[in-house]
Amino acid sequence: DWTPDAFVETTVDELKAQIGDDKVILGLSGGVDSSVAAMLLHKAIGKHLHCIFVNNGLLRKNEFENVLDQYEHMGLNVKGVDASARFLDALKGESDPEKKRKIIGGVFIDVFDDEAHKVENAKWLAQGTIYPDRIESVSASGGPSAVIKSHHNVGGLPDYMKLKIVEPLKMLFKDEVRRVGASMGMSEAILGRHPFPGPGLGIRILGDITAEKVAILQEVDAIFIEGLKKWGLYDKVWQAGAMLLPVDSVGVMGDERTYEKCVALRAVESTDGMTADWVNLPYEFLQKTSNDIINKVKGVNRVVYDISSKPPATIEWE
Ligand code: XMP
Repeated sequence: DWTPDAFVETTVDELKAQIGDDKVILGLSGGVDSSVAAMLLHKAIGKHLHCIFVNNGLLRKNEFENVLDQYEHMGLNVKGVDASARFLDALKGESDPEKKRKIIGGVFIDVFDDEAHKVENAKWLAQGTIYPDRIESVSASGGPSAVIKSHHNVGGLPDYMKLKIVEPLKMLFKDEVRRVGASMGMSEAILGRHPFPGPGLGIRILGDITAEKVAILQEVDAIFIEGLKKWGLYDKVWQAGAMLLPVDSVGVMGDERTYEKCVALRAVESTDGMTADWVNLPYEFLQKTSNDIINKVKGVNRVVYDISSKPPATIEWE
């Protein structure tokens, strides 16, 4: 019978035998899969595991700092690389969704390659690939593997892709990954996280991306997600987030007509992201959240809730 404890024990032994004294590089995304993969390798080879966590400037509010803290707390040998400016610069003026994805993927690879080169004599690249990643075309995982798939179309392989690949979770399903993480004592804050796309808020800001828009959306998203947690709704939802729409709509402040931004909130139930239903969130929650957003986030005067299911509407708006 499969048990998470037995899986951890045999996998750690196998990793030790396979890797020996070699150095391993792993890209952390903040998500469940890459975090659990890192923890398994950490148990097996300790400081010989070099984790890299890239801030692309499109993460949730305070995400980079919070997640980095959690990783350090877990004892991981992790380096945080803040490349926000590089990403935003490369994205300047681009509003085509697929081009934005390519730009974000390309810059990620460049940044990751630079960092990987700083780890001398690395022999392995570890990935948090899980079983469904290998059979499904759509992956919710925002990890480097998703990025690499799209980069194949663009150009040659970066140097780190010439490393030998180690994928300790490749036979597991998501729920098994969570159980493995729990058996290693990892926190619910990491194991219970919603999926988040690799291009992050970059595909939730419709149209072109600016630092200002990112800051607005981070505030909106934080109010929504914190609210879901406070109301005990976070764990009932598979994925949630906010979209910043490329329209200004009219509002009124005193005697003045204003034209400000509109945001759409989205929360879905799903098992794998391939199909999804919008979640029937309580009206009282939506009311409170809308008020909070409009009162607290400067530049937003309208909030709508997305009641479309997939198919045909995708989870993300881009
Ligand atoms: P859609 O929008 O296609 O999303 O219904 C299904 C799942 O995939 C995630 N998603 C992405 N993840 N890179 C990623 O790593 C992407 O470009 C990307 N696009 C969508 C989305 O968040 C949802 O979980």
